[in-house]
Amino acid sequence: MPNPFLELSNINLSLKSKAGLIKILNDVNLRVLQGEAVALVGPSGSGKSSLLMLMGGLERPSTGQIHILNYEISKLSQSAMTNFRRDMIGVIFQSFHLIPTMTALENVMIPLEIMKSNNIFEKSKESLRKVGLIDRTSHYPGELSGGEQQRVALARALVTKPKLILADEPTGNLDKDSGDIVTNLLFELKDEVGSTMVIVTHSEELASKCDRKIFINDGQLTNESIFR
Ligand SMILES: Nc1ncnc2c1ncn2[C@@H]1O[C@H](COP(=O)(O)OP(=O)(O)OP(=O)(O)O)[C@@H](O)[C@H]1O
Ligand SMILES: [Mg+2]
Repeated sequence: MPNPFLELSNINLSLKSKAGLIKILNDVNLRVLQGEAVALVGPSGSGKSSLLMLMGGLERPSTGQIHILNYEISKLSQSAMTNFRRDMIGVIFQSFHLIPTMTALENVMIPLEIMKSNNIFEKSKESLRKVGLIDRTSHYPGELSGGEQQRVALARALVTKPKLILADEPTGNLDKDSGDIVTNLLFELKDEVGSTMVIVTHSEELASKCDRKIFINDGQLTNESIFR
């Protein structure tokens, strides 16, 4: 059996709230193979975004281990994790996380600047062109529609051609045509770079393009999920 690219073992996540400790994720075990696309499906509040945050090292599990290739990311220091994420992972957040004081183009340039890449300007423009926003390069996020902001966030996540793509409802705010553009871009990158993808989605169309679906309910992966 091929080695997993991403492996979660006995993951639990509890967070403090005013009401006390809330159990968010409950004994999650999951292996995702290199180059595999997995759709993560479940009702609102079931823990999908939380699980994605753990996979991207943006949150730490209360207990359990997360491995990406041979790295146990749940053990990396914060700065090592930041470098690891910069080199390996593209995250598309549910709420976009664009920097409001930077234009669309400047937002897309950020990860390349952090990587000290070459041809930053050209690569960023090309990435915006691919999401259909070449005529919006100098707009600030506040001057863009929700769907346009989502596409800028996608351009920013994909511009570095990451080995692991974590996408939280990447077509959630888009009409059919823009949703198709986003879906095609994700799968083009997967074909080009061999990226591994975990995509939270309510879209049947997007989910059906993935290699398999994982179902989460109340912080637990359910039996319908096919484990590998
Ligand atoms: N920082 C936090 N502190 C306490 N509870 C939290 C925190 N973040 C999320 N939760 C709770 O954890 C649960 C899972 O949240 P999460 O955002 O992962 O759900 P989700 O499946 O992504 O939902 P949606 O489809 O609405 O985006 C929810 O009940 C939420 O209220
Ligand atoms: Mg969510």
